[in-house]
Amino acid sequence: MTWEESTRQKMLHLKLPTDPRWVEIAEMQIEDILVDHAYCEQKAASSCISLILRFNDLDELVDTLTPIVAEEWGHFERVLEQLRKRRMKFGFPRKDEYVTKLNEFVKKGGNRWQQLTEQLLMNALIEARSCERFKLLSKNIRDEELQKFYYELMISEAGHFVTFIELAKKYQDPDKVNVRWREWLVYEAEVLKNMEIRGDRMH
Ligand SMILES: [Fe+2]
Ligand SMILES: [Fe+2]
Repeated sequence: MTWEESTRQKMLHLKLPTDPRWVEIAEMQIEDILVDHAYCEQKAASSCISLILRFNDLDELVDTLTPIVAEEWGHFERVLEQLRKRRMKFGFPRKDEYVTKLNEFVKKGGNRWQQLTEQLLMNALIEARSCERFKLLSKNIRDEELQKFYYELMISEAGHFVTFIELAKKYQDPDKVNVRWREWLVYEAEVLKNMEIRGDRMH
């Protein structure tokens, strides 16, 4: 099985494919996309740091997420480099409606393991959707350097997706994780369906 086939099986769990019009408008607003993307990488790094601090006693989690922080920060640096090269401005962060909506679905309360599952599944979902969007960019935009750039990042985020799911199943009954994962997928599709398609947001 090729990498693409196995990833499609593992990840395109996603219930709703991105509207193909998104990539067209994203290409026209690539500066906005790159700025938003840079902040996505920053948030990915920050969210791993928060997990490390909150679950500092879980050795495997700390050891798995620490290199991911470095990787996400490396992605941030690479997005910044793409902006600089094009003489584009690294603007302010945008309101992240997608992540705000996902946060609303996080179950409050429950024990520590349930809270950890929620966070890991939310991270996995953001990785999965980012991976899908990077794939669309890599296949459809005309800028060859960005095609290659998004292809590489797609592979990296697919790896993170798998890691988050595996970590969730390490610290919680895998059957429970699967049940909750399906709920997250349904919810995420609903969120996307109700969101306006914008060319200035990665999600
Ligand atoms: Fe990343
Ligand atoms: Fe990632």
